[in-house]
Amino acid sequence: MRKRPFKRTQFALGTVVAVVAVGVAAEGISYRHAADMLYLVMSSDRAVYAQKVVQRLTRDERILTASEHFKDDSALPLPAQMFRFGAELVADETDDFSYSLLSLHPINKKNGPGTALEREGLQYVADNPGENFYGEEELGGLRYFAAVYPDVAVAEACVGCHNNHKDSPRTDAKLGDVMGGVLIRIPMD
Ligand code: HEC
Repeated sequence: MRKRPFKRTQFALGTVVAVVAVGVAAEGISYRHAADMLYLVMSSDRAVYAQKVVQRLTRDERILTASEHFKDDSALPLPAQMFRFGAELVADETDDFSYSLLSLHPINKKNGPGTALEREGLQYVADNPGENFYGEEELGGLRYFAAVYPDVAVAEACVGCHNNHKDSPRTDAKLGDVMGGVLIRIPMD
């Protein structure tokens, strides 16, 4: 059974826009277009958090720090953590779509590829800079549309933190490298 999409009243605005986008898809917009719209909302929210919250309060105004251990450190969560927390809330709310930030070389092992298509998509966006990956897969007897969007190291901070992180299997990432990808999955049945 499908979960009810709007159980929570205090829903992030971006997520509301995203759920509406999938509703439109059911009336004729392609899965690819729906996934592209979802991605635009989530990547914009992530960029806003990274620039207007993390960058401003940490580097510009030096009021707070951002830390993976944000509770212990009384710090801001990292953008990748904010993204995952949002994805986890969406997964609690609905089966209409799901999303995650993944990598072939993940710091958090939960963010590694879980299916053959996830691995193929992550490899594709790593090998073809600037391109997205679109495909279909069958999981548990259901058919899914899946899209993978490249996640690029746009700042020195990305490579510095990842290359030096104790749990990172990759230590040679460079500015401009594809670090991973955002996966969006929509059931087709
Ligand atoms: C201060 C350290 C730090 C910075 C800066 C940082 N990351 Fe991460 N990143 C992490 C941590 C820690 C995780 C694991 C988060 C989790 O628990 O899901 C992560 C997760 C990710 C993932 C998912 C795969 C994985 O490694 O678990 C991608 C992709 C990613 N980051 C890309 C980036 C990009 C691109 C940037 C720059 C725009 C960036 N990161 C900046 C620490 C950092």
